Amino acid sequence: MKTANQDIRPITTKINEKGNIEIGGCDLTELAAKYGTPLYVFDEETIKSMTSSYKDAFKQYPNISMMFAAKAFMTKAICRIMAREGFGLDLCSAGEIYTAKSSGFDMKKTLFNGNNKSYEDLVYALECGMETISVDNFYELEELNRAAKSKNKTIKILLRITPGIECHTHEYIQTGHLDSKFGFDLTQTDEAIQLIKSTYKNINLAGLHAHIGSQIFEKQVYYDEVEVLFKEIKRIKDRHNIELTEINLGGGLGIKYTEKDKPISVYDIADTITKAIEVYSKEYNVSLNKIYIEPGRSIIGTAGITIYKAGSSKQVPKGRKYVAADGGMSDNARPSLYQAEYTVEIANKPKAENTEKVTIAGKHCESGDILAKDIMLPKIEPNDIICLHTTGAYGYSMSSNYNRVLKPAAVLVNNGKSDIIINRQTFEQLCESDNIPDRLN
Ligand code: LLP
Repeated sequence: MKTANQDIRPITTKINEKGNIEIGGCDLTELAAKYGTPLYVFDEETIKSMTSSYKDAFKQYPNISMMFAAKAFMTKAICRIMAREGFGLDLCSAGEIYTAKSSGFDMKKTLFNGNNKSYEDLVYALECGMETISVDNFYELEELNRAAKSKNKTIKILLRITPGIECHTHEYIQTGHLDSKFGFDLTQTDEAIQLIKSTYKNINLAGLHAHIGSQIFEKQVYYDEVEVLFKEIKRIKDRHNIELTEINLGGGLGIKYTEKDKPISVYDIADTITKAIEVYSKEYNVSLNKIYIEPGRSIIGTAGITIYKAGSSKQVPKGRKYVAADGGMSDNARPSLYQAEYTVEIANKPKAENTEKVTIAGKHCESGDILAKDIMLPKIEPNDIICLHTTGAYGYSMSSNYNRVLKPAAVLVNNGKSDIIINRQTFEQLCESDNIPDRLN
């Protein structure tokens, strides 16, 4: 069955009677006029369609815990939506923990990931009531044990391992291959387990965690990942007489940014994972109480778009035509960081014929600040509303104040209503952490 991550546009996208693009029943040109640009727009129905697809696809498997990878996009409102949809949260910094906690999220349903959690981060996680930590390395084992001891607690952990699976995605977003900064190499798990048994009395090892990468289009890598984890659990049982009962498969399911992308359906991934669990639990005689998955991009990516106002343009004699948007790499670093490609439409003339090859440039002082390169579009005039699709994941969450450009606002749309979920940053907020030392007065 097809799922929303397999389309470029949010599921509620329409062209309305005025001839403009509408999402969640809201005309994008009206949103631009009301809230200003650049503006992130998130379609609640698309988010819900993805969370429902995940729940439905795994429904024959009651032991599954769905954790939204908050790094993809996180605000207090998103935490509320995830709570309503029955998802937990995969958190990877004290800031993400703080956001979840202050949104009123049930912290028992969260999990702490990351390759360099400090002692202070770990103490904070325990104080906030987190109950599961994925431990990435030897240093963290020591620090977590110390933190748990100081709180008189025993904390449940998963050991993050590097499964040695390479998937075909951008090098920077590959994580499961052997030469990776994340997790224990499989040759190091014995030492980690011995330390837990002999020394780290405040740690309770429950299972293994792996994450193979992001923007994945292949099913087979998930099948292989399940095998690696089951095989290792069996090896640990034989070697250390410890029965591990939980695995975390990470996230990674891809989405469709352009027509070239062919992501797979959530149902396909669920079938692959459940099939692999069936096969390998028999083969290795391992039974599990809990399986976590941590999708980020596939839950929120397609639901989000960014709208910009067109400004200046430049025709290079015998070269490219550039049209500049009123945002750029500060609100979306992905094109300059990963050469990411996006689908662009003009929200106030979506049906106009594509007559020009243009490059949509950002407004930052950097030649590499390009949002979309060499794409066919209708003739763009100043004040046209440029719509970049599928910016929901890792767009706002990687935004910056480069060139002291203010961070944009984000709205949630549903059924003709729009609500601010992040206010546009103000100049006062931009400078609020600045300090002028006395000697400069
Ligand atoms: N779990 C772990 C341990 C992760 O490291 C990640 C993502 C996820 C889950 C969620 O993966 P997803 O379902 O979103 O693929 N900034 C990059 C993506 C980095 C992904 C980092 N880890 C980008 O913009 O493409």
